[in-house]
Amino acid sequence: MLNGRRILVGITGGIAAYKVAELVRLLVKSSAEVRVVMTEGAKEFITPLTLQALSGNPVHHTLLDPSAEAGMGHIELAKWADLIVVAPATANFIARFAAGMANDLLSTLCLATDAPVAIAPAMNQAMWKNPRTQRNINSFLSDSNLFVWGPDSGVQACGDVGLGRMLEPVQLMDNVLGYFKSGALQGKNVVITAGPTREAIDPVRYISNHSSGKMGYALAAAAQVAGANVTLISGPVSIPVPEGVDLQSVVTASEMLKSAEILADNGCDIFIAAAAVADYRVLEVAEQKIKKTNDDMVIELSKNPDIVATIASRKVKPFVVGFAAETQDVLAYAKGKLIRKKLDMIIANDVSDSRIGFNSEDNEVTVLWQNKQSGADENTAFSLQNKTQLATNIIELISAQIAAS
Ligand code: C5P
Repeated sequence: MLNGRRILVGITGGIAAYKVAELVRLLVKSSAEVRVVMTEGAKEFITPLTLQALSGNPVHHTLLDPSAEAGMGHIELAKWADLIVVAPATANFIARFAAGMANDLLSTLCLATDAPVAIAPAMNQAMWKNPRTQRNINSFLSDSNLFVWGPDSGVQACGDVGLGRMLEPVQLMDNVLGYFKSGALQGKNVVITAGPTREAIDPVRYISNHSSGKMGYALAAAAQVAGANVTLISGPVSIPVPEGVDLQSVVTASEMLKSAEILADNGCDIFIAAAAVADYRVLEVAEQKIKKTNDDMVIELSKNPDIVATIASRKVKPFVVGFAAETQDVLAYAKGKLIRKKLDMIIANDVSDSRIGFNSEDNEVTVLWQNKQSGADENTAFSLQNKTQLATNIIELISAQIAAS
């Protein structure tokens, strides 16, 4: 659900540090990219190796380490993050953070980053109640880029009872999801077609294509993370449905069109056609398996309905985005399709390039649209990147376009 969001988890030296292993696991499970930074104190409670294994990345812990700086330097790391979560955040860290200090790697990152910082305080109840800690916490409340998650109340490791327990990893996870959910497509209804369609020849054979559905599914996940209510109309594929996304499984182009029209009738704000719809269907599907009696065989085909063009020509129409997979004159053909199909935006890619395309993990595209105010053609090129990351970028571009129009 976090679909390539870059989350930097800072761990400071409190007993709750061991619980953060679970938070890192939940973040990774939700497809976030996670990097962990530990203070010296944190390493007394949990080993960097545990966090390295769970995050899948080396753990950062030293500010002035030439080899670490040669890998991902501290400023680069500060820029990399979409969100920093410090959990547990000790009274000492909170005091240093409030004072704007930069005397270890984590405090330096928190000072250098433009990303929001969320802290999950964890300390003894008396330390939490202490007016100096409260003054530090209060100093964060007016800053819209800082969040204080918790603390919880209950029995503490030292036996005291009161406020100061770190929120449980699942609650922190909910807060992370909630933060990203307040995204640009909050409450919008998004419908995405994905995968191939299959057109039967007889009960055992069909015409189809190699579409994996990856791009459409990645867009569904990214739209969901941006706060949309997402429905995927998917042809037969073998990839999991992103959590929180509704699935309508279809086989043929006609079924895909029917689902799309029903969803458009019920209020669709954005329609993204990522499916590789079979251009033709068999005119007369044989009721029984066709026998190979003749040397030659002719199958008569009939053109399938154009789903995206049908949706785009409705009187009340959603913001419609299509794809153009081309092998030559990519931008010119894509522009033609944008106009002919009455689309609001088109995503063009060069499928003659073997690095990208139907079954690959990566894609490189140019998105084209016409500026509604000036009538000028506009485009944004996205260099070769993972489809997950690309989907997030495309969803951001669509959101910005909708906001501007
Ligand atoms: O015309 P062409 O197939 O190249 O157009 C590609 C775009 O149109 C894609 O967005 C695809 O999902 C959509 N399409 C469709 N219905 C069809 C054919 C293509 O929605 N029958």
